[in-house]
Amino acid sequence: MAGGASGSLSLELWKTRRRIVSLVVLAAVAGLALWLAGRRQEAALLRADADQVAASNGALLRSAVRAGAGVYRQGCASCHGAQGRGDMSAGVPDLTDADWLYGRGLAQEIEQVAEHGIRSHRAKALALADMPAFALPAPSSTERISSLSPRDIADVTEFIRYLGGGAQDMTAAARGGLIYQARGACFDCHGRDGRGDSAVGAPNLADATWLYGDRKRESIARSIAEGRAGVCPGGGGALSATALRQVALYIHSRSSSRRAGADRGS
Ligand code: HEC
Ligand code: HEC
Repeated sequence: MAGGASGSLSLELWKTRRRIVSLVVLAAVAGLALWLAGRRQEAALLRADADQVAASNGALLRSAVRAGAGVYRQGCASCHGAQGRGDMSAGVPDLTDADWLYGRGLAQEIEQVAEHGIRSHRAKALALADMPAFALPAPSSTERISSLSPRDIADVTEFIRYLGGGAQDMTAAARGGLIYQARGACFDCHGRDGRGDSAVGAPNLADATWLYGDRKRESIARSIAEGRAGVCPGGGGALSATALRQVALYIHSRSSSRRAGADRGS
């Protein structure tokens, strides 16, 4: 019978429609649940202590590191490199080693740089000291430091080479040592032993890690003569609090301070 056939057809249609509607509702509910779980995880990440999350090795850390890799690629890799190894010719530090200009590589310290930057002219940027330009009549605009002659600069360069075990002219290195410990005021920022001061971002001059150039006499002499004041823009403003924490945990997870920390059992 024709009428009965069309009746069952519309019943089928109605059932199909009902199935589609319930599928859509189900998908929406699942999506909302996922979104809520994501928000809850973000809130937990921000509530927690960054270094406790870093030490935990838990699910919260793993998802933060995954997301942080994306933040890094977008906002930091252009300078620090895809692998985080920096660029010695441009004064961009390696973020994967255990050598830190500021602090000792804690996740919260990395997060601070990620947010405010270094010499970025933001209100909370790290900008505690610049490397004076000793060839200028007034090497520093903020401190009373006297300038050095080209021969002084060559001598103190030889002393720095001596600290790292590579001096050739010991007499020049000895003269340079006197300048380092007195007239040049180098000790004031880099420490008596040349091991730097991570409270003011003054690098260790006695190790094998160089921010500018590869331990070459010319790059050392140039740092001393012309001064240095590297800038990290930081991502605050453009990046959310969550993204900043994620990128800090990502960098921390890839650095050797984490391995050193794990070895110490901290
Ligand atoms: C007021 C503090 C201050 C004084 C004084 C100072 N420095 Fe520095 N020095 C710094 C800072 C900060 C940096 C890192 C600059 C940067 O990050 O761009 C630096 C960087 C350097 C570098 C480059 C290191 C590298 O890893 O490439 C050398 C070399 C250096 N200083 C040598 C000296 C010598 C030699 C003297 C004394 C004649 C001296 N400094 C005095 C603060 C200082
Ligand atoms: C325009 C280039 C540039 C970009 C982009 C950049 N940085 Fe930097 N960053 C630098 C330079 C240069 C320094 C060294 C500053 C100095 O000499 O003190 C630095 C230093 C740092 C340090 C300190 C390292 C140490 O040894 O103490 C951290 C941490 C850091 N950057 C994180 C980041 C993060 C996270 C991002 C992305 C949100 C980022 N940077 C984006 C150039 C950059």
